[in-house]
Amino acid sequence: MKHQTIISQLTLEEKASLMSGKSVWETKDYPEKGIPSIFLSDGPHGIRKQEGAGDHLGLNASVPATCFPTAATLANSWDEALLEEVGTALGAEASQLGVHVVLGPGLNIKRNPMCGRNFEYYSEDPYQAGKMAAAMIRGIQSNGVAACPKHFAANSQELKRMSSDSIVDERTFREIYTTGFEIAVKEGKAKSIMTAYNKINGTYANEDGHLLRDILREEWGFDGFVVSDWGGSNDHVLGVQNGSHLEMPSTGTVGQKEIINAVNFGQLDEVILDERVDELLTVVLELSKTSKKSVNTERQHQLSQKAARNSIVLLKNEDRILPLASKTKVALIGEFAFEPRYQGAGSSFINPTQLDKTVDVIKDYDLDVVGTAKGYERTDVDNQALLTEAIDVAKTADVVLLYLGLDEISESEGLDRRHISLPKNQLRLLDEISKVTNKVIAVLSAGSVIDLNWDDRVKGLVHGYLSGQAGARAMLDVLTGKYNPSGKLSETYPLAIIDVPSSADYPAEGDYSIYREGLYVGYRYFETAKSLVKYPYGFGLSYTDFSYNDLIVEENGVRFTLTNTGSVAGSEVAQLYVGIDTSKLYRASKELKGFAKVYLEPGESKEVFIAFDDKTFRYYNTLTSSFEVEAGTYRIMIGTNVSKITLQGQLYKEGTTANLPELDLPSYAEVDILTVSDAEFARLLGRPVPKENWQKGQELRLNDALSQMAYAKSWLARAVASILRILLNRAEKKGKPDLNLLFLYNMPFRALAKMTGGTINMAMVEGILTIVNGHFFRGLGQTVKAFRQKRQTDKSLVAKKV
Ligand code: BGC
Repeated sequence: MKHQTIISQLTLEEKASLMSGKSVWETKDYPEKGIPSIFLSDGPHGIRKQEGAGDHLGLNASVPATCFPTAATLANSWDEALLEEVGTALGAEASQLGVHVVLGPGLNIKRNPMCGRNFEYYSEDPYQAGKMAAAMIRGIQSNGVAACPKHFAANSQELKRMSSDSIVDERTFREIYTTGFEIAVKEGKAKSIMTAYNKINGTYANEDGHLLRDILREEWGFDGFVVSDWGGSNDHVLGVQNGSHLEMPSTGTVGQKEIINAVNFGQLDEVILDERVDELLTVVLELSKTSKKSVNTERQHQLSQKAARNSIVLLKNEDRILPLASKTKVALIGEFAFEPRYQGAGSSFINPTQLDKTVDVIKDYDLDVVGTAKGYERTDVDNQALLTEAIDVAKTADVVLLYLGLDEISESEGLDRRHISLPKNQLRLLDEISKVTNKVIAVLSAGSVIDLNWDDRVKGLVHGYLSGQAGARAMLDVLTGKYNPSGKLSETYPLAIIDVPSSADYPAEGDYSIYREGLYVGYRYFETAKSLVKYPYGFGLSYTDFSYNDLIVEENGVRFTLTNTGSVAGSEVAQLYVGIDTSKLYRASKELKGFAKVYLEPGESKEVFIAFDDKTFRYYNTLTSSFEVEAGTYRIMIGTNVSKITLQGQLYKEGTTANLPELDLPSYAEVDILTVSDAEFARLLGRPVPKENWQKGQELRLNDALSQMAYAKSWLARAVASILRILLNRAEKKGKPDLNLLFLYNMPFRALAKMTGGTINMAMVEGILTIVNGHFFRGLGQTVKAFRQKRQTDKSLVAKKV
């Protein structure tokens, strides 16, 4: 152990207390024994440092900080150097604000476009997500601050996010849901990691020894600390036993006492506790020693603008309507041009240092703005006056810049989307405007996939995603050609949400979320099934054209020449995909294995080399529990997006596979994935598919969500559930998600012992549950008794000063 001297001076009570936070954001300290406290803050696209009373979902405002574009936006840049630069700026700002750990990046896989938190994640592809995350982590950590990639792993829906059980087969888990984290850990060298709230195949992520010990520490060599998501520690003792270090936020003395009892009663070996303390101290001591950095707010703002600009995706440019010529007569229409939608709601919400608005900054561009109009209400209600005003303005212009997008309630932490359409009032405005002019450029702000089947009504379509506090200028830079767009989509835009295999049961409402589609996530499905999409993964246009030539496939990588054949300078994101037709396993026809963003002057050519790495040819063999290479001839494809392969070669690879899991999986082999039977999925899973075991009317359990009180036996509990629902609906109507209510709605009963700062312990939760289940007096007695016992032990810990 590295910190034997310190640890030998700590009592069991002190060691146990180090495994829980001191407050919502701080770790426990013992200054007299050389143990400082460190401060953790969200993340991921800015620093959300709360001063004064902390609450994890941001009821209390945080100190102003630069709001960079969200992860979904930055991913579209496909630019590792840019992400590292943003990470460095984030790390410096964290350091200036006295934050030691930035809770991010978030890199869960976008399993379904309707996940409410997709705006906080990078991609549907694990390789891309991992590369983006690793770059961001390197940047953050270059300032002596730790990054904390999250939420590890298979956390793909917000509904019942704290108790949902992700049922996923091992090969899919390793190839899709953990590969990104592997890259983040190995290449980013993350000093901490946050476990997901959910269970994975029956075990809470925070208690999963296979995940936290076998995979994370032993296989990937992780040497940082593991922190639970806020309120996400279920059985704290099991967590510590299996490799988790820190339970956050503070649970008062609740978690501490659980550990003390477990050691005293022989359920937890003190040696294991010492190991966890040692591992945690290694990071805490290192972080507390680094010197404070300072940042220049204006320069941070400019970097935010650059990051947003390099991430904008041009989706359509009919008749080369863009870039706008100098002095073009434009009408600026849309609520988002007045009040930008620039970040998502939830724990990542940043209080920006400044906020650019298109309507204010457009005067700095060489355009003739003939009129402005809001056009629609932010929430989806009709307003004829706004519509009429917008149409009148549209008639006077040569080109309409129509700012559309998703409002705050449409995508948020704690809330999955119910559809992917734009609000109806915006679509109506678009319809009406396209009747009076055919020169419409739609400018989109949204953190996740939207239905774009209306794009025939516009000549130009530009997607800025959620572009941070400086996004307004970034977009105008692109619209006016000051910057040639170079972003490409990091997720597929399907023709309809039902085309996405996981949509059949998304979000899962019961105990289990069945990952029946296996490896067929995002483009892996659409490409293999040869199913049409609206805009493919990796797609994005430029104001120039590129040509790809002279492919040479070498043992270590692939080489080709990229030429800018147009008349303006620009950057192209060239993508490497690999596939194998002769595989005995079911596989996606193409998988992303590398990419390069290359800047070229008009007429310029460059030789590009994309190296192969340990991920290029591997698959996960469930028989040997290891990544292996199947021998065979691989297709090596270079594309400008996943559907447009521009160069193709091949390479024979020797394999390491002696035996291969040859399962009978006809639906997977035929990519007939929308109706996989339980029997077939069970073969992939290697065990029976779990059956829902809770039904309405049944008694509620510790891990059932508070929302399920709607079906409780006790009328009191049902009344509480109704009040919760009424308040949520009210917030929804106002167009502003109430994060704390949403948190409660999805929170399981057991989290009452984790989110009340130690006021309630597990025995009291059990008493409350007895009340909920219709036994009022018995439950009340249980609760009061547990409360008294807790007060007694609290007193003895106070006497011992721990
Ligand atoms: C979120 C995390 C966040 C944490 C602290 C949780 O609800 O899932 O992403 O870091 O709160 O705010």
